[in-house]
Amino acid sequence: MSEKLASIVILFAHPTVHRSRVNRVLFERVKAVPGVATRDLYELYPDFNIDVEAEQNALREADLVVFQHPIYWYSVPAILKEWMDVVLTRGFAYGSGGDALRGKDALLAVSTGGSAQAYTSAGQHRHPFEDLIRPLQQTAVFCGMRCLPPLVLHGGRGPVSKERLNEHAQRYTQLLIDYQQRGS
Ligand SMILES: Cc1cc2nc3c(=O)[nH]c(=O)nc-3n(C[C@H](O)[C@H](O)[C@H](O)COP(=O)(O)O)c2cc1C
Repeated sequence: MSEKLASIVILFAHPTVHRSRVNRVLFERVKAVPGVATRDLYELYPDFNIDVEAEQNALREADLVVFQHPIYWYSVPAILKEWMDVVLTRGFAYGSGGDALRGKDALLAVSTGGSAQAYTSAGQHRHPFEDLIRPLQQTAVFCGMRCLPPLVLHGGRGPVSKERLNEHAQRYTQLLIDYQQRGS
């Protein structure tokens, strides 16, 4: 095992975090993991005026980039789309000389309103969830990153029991701790 812990940055995007039942709790829990860097995008950039250099520097530091957010319209909340558009630039994330993210890992830590059953061919969302997040994963792959299996909490709009939320938070924090231990 390497002596230096692997470094992790969590990009958190929730526009109405005061109303969140799932992500707020999960984010509080992972923020408490020593050594994990967090960037609350709506808090940092309430006017969407993203500091591209600061964001790119945070990415350069990280071995693992976590995207934590609720799924909105089978995609990301608006600020995270803006973040992708302005931060993942040619010459940084792709194209000639654009190898800043090459070899890093990406993790989607997301929640859905729909139940796991709703994400089947017979369900309301008609497709397996894994199929619907392919554009997000391909964005990371296009930038030379490897995607870890996503961490998903389904059914986040209905009542989520304390036990279930706690168990999910435990899985999430343990995953980060295990990743850190792998070393840099
Ligand atoms: C604008 C908007 C779009 C949404 N789109 C989806 C969606 O495409 N699929 C889905 O399962 N849930 C969708 N939801 C539900 C949220 O994903 C769900 O409420 C959230 O994951 C719960 O987490 P929270 O308690 O942290 O807000 C949407 C909610 C909003 C407000």
